[in-house]
Amino acid sequence: MQRKIIIDCDPGQDDALMLFLAFASPRELNILGVCAVAGNVPLEKTQRNICILSDIVGNEKVPIFAGCDKPLTNVGLTAEHVHGREGIDGIDIFSPRTNLESKGAVDFIVDTLLSAADDEITIVATGPLTNIASAILRDPAILPKIREIVVMGGAMKEGGNITPSAEFNIFVDPHAAKIVFECGRPIAAFGLDVTHQVFTSPSVLERIAILDNRVANASHGMLSFFGRYDAQKYRAQGAPLHDPCTIAYLLRPELFELKSCNIRVETNSELTMGHTAVDFWGVTGLPANTEWAHSVHRDGFFDLLIERLSRY
Ligand code: BDR
Ligand code: CA
Repeated sequence: MQRKIIIDCDPGQDDALMLFLAFASPRELNILGVCAVAGNVPLEKTQRNICILSDIVGNEKVPIFAGCDKPLTNVGLTAEHVHGREGIDGIDIFSPRTNLESKGAVDFIVDTLLSAADDEITIVATGPLTNIASAILRDPAILPKIREIVVMGGAMKEGGNITPSAEFNIFVDPHAAKIVFECGRPIAAFGLDVTHQVFTSPSVLERIAILDNRVANASHGMLSFFGRYDAQKYRAQGAPLHDPCTIAYLLRPELFELKSCNIRVETNSELTMGHTAVDFWGVTGLPANTEWAHSVHRDGFFDLLIERLSRY
């Protein structure tokens, strides 16, 4: 059965691949809207990038919304050192045909959820959680309508990627992340422990190049750029496909192993700001609030990605 989803993201090359995977899967996913949030690059660029990616996949019906341009409390932070000046470097930037809706992302999320049935809508979030937390703060009556929140964020065994303790999306807006992880709805979290198991490789890039369609060519360009920084940082052969794990999980949950955990987010300490304290062994006695992904079938993941890119 088709799942109704709202996607919230900050492209970012890996967000772009996440969107390509989602737009290639209309049988499983009904995308109600795509929201932009400030993250990898400022909001003006993440919203423009979603419109460019929408043009690339030929989308004409899914609306795009601009969301929050800064975190709830902290000063914003971007990651051009990873993603390039435009956020989706590796393809030519053009002026998109797709327009943004005049409604803001937080209004869209609140209105859509309020008019939904209980447990009807899944939220996929692959940037800082500012828009989602703002929607919860604006009207907590949206909460019962949420079926699941599928988040790319956090780290446990793998350590942080922006500070020794924190993963980027959570670090940028830890106050928003705390609200989301404590909201009481089902959460599936894909942190660095699992996303660092799906680094691209030259052979993956070669398989994408062979497809030779518009979306595959854009993917190849972006991943070639994205790989250069992370390959050096992690002494890997390519880049970790963080954000596509969320959609891959919705399409093929059996590719992942998840464990029920309690997660709390650090919002006070300067040293460990944005740390996700994942209680993997139940030592706190606190109730589980998250399904924490800790393992992925790498070959199955890339087979899925490449099969979906071949559909364009
Ligand atoms: C996350 O941060 C961003 O750089 C990526 O798009 C991903 O969402 C990984 O830490
Ligand atoms: Ca992202």
